[in-house]
Amino acid sequence: MTSANSKGLVDGCKRSVTYLRVSVTDRCNLHCRYCITHKTQWLPKGQVLTLEEIYRMVRIAVGLGITKVRLTGGEPLCRKDVLGLVARLSRLNGLEDLSLTTNGTLLAAKARALRQAGLQRINISLDTLDAAMFRQLTGSDLFEQVWRGIMAAADEGFEPVKINTVVMNGCNDAQIERLADLSRQYPFHIRFIEYMPIGIDPHGSQDRFMPMDEVRRRLERMGPLVPVANGRSDGPAMRFRFENAPGEIGFIGAMSNHFCHRCNRIRLTADGHLRPCLLSDEQVDVIGPLRSGGSDADLSTLFAETLARKGDEHHLNFCGNGVIRTQMVTIGG
Ligand code: 5AD
Repeated sequence: MTSANSKGLVDGCKRSVTYLRVSVTDRCNLHCRYCITHKTQWLPKGQVLTLEEIYRMVRIAVGLGITKVRLTGGEPLCRKDVLGLVARLSRLNGLEDLSLTTNGTLLAAKARALRQAGLQRINISLDTLDAAMFRQLTGSDLFEQVWRGIMAAADEGFEPVKINTVVMNGCNDAQIERLADLSRQYPFHIRFIEYMPIGIDPHGSQDRFMPMDEVRRRLERMGPLVPVANGRSDGPAMRFRFENAPGEIGFIGAMSNHFCHRCNRIRLTADGHLRPCLLSDEQVDVIGPLRSGGSDADLSTLFAETLARKGDEHHLNFCGNGVIRTQMVTIGG
């Protein structure tokens, strides 16, 4: 049984769902090799939710008990007037936490305006501190610009500034120590993420996979990692800190160490579907009902339907199980 009552959204496994991630565009100005390929085609504009439609869905979600919203993409800062969306969302009663995941390329110019619009937290995706490797990985020579974006976010008072690194064997794994060391120099939270087989040829990628245990063992050679207690509203990262470091290290092992039993998320995709799980192609159409005159009450039932389809755990692996046909840029990472 699922319900949307005074206790908020609760799924069939009694998980309380309070966190909505919203992909505001599938477009991205970087072409990270593991995310976008030459086969990637942007959605026609008419198939992407308008900002008004996104606002409406979030407003309804907050009315149902969602308290935490993250805007993602694609690259959310590529979407025209995403600032206007942030400003409107930040005024929603009941929304306690509004954050954004970005590749950082447009952040130096927009960090102040985002802060002023009411954004509370920022995650920046960065897989390497080496400018040449950055160019190879993303197809663009924009490392310095991303770094300026990170500094701008810190200067504007976003706290904590989180840096997300997807660790890929034989690709950027030699960078993990340098990235981790940032947490000793700055109050940043560096979060290492296991590579997941999502995309166009997902199962050709097992050789890229490095389990978080291995990342952790390597970082422990730099000094002891002291566990940091997880707060109740924390995400899936296992948190640590080097002794006396101003920042933190986090490990997100979605493949080797499922955290499904405490998953509190659903997703709204750029093409207007609600997804109960990142790692499953299950989804509920909302763009149809939105564009055919669905009332707020009609749209509310779609959240309950999505929750009803939320599996107790994901079944994605590198052996061909649970292929994800939708690309990360559409779902929202
Ligand atoms: N595995 C793990 N993380 C991924 N991301 C994109 N594709 C993958 C993948 N296959 C990450 C991005 C970014 C976040 C939005 O999702 O690097 O940090």
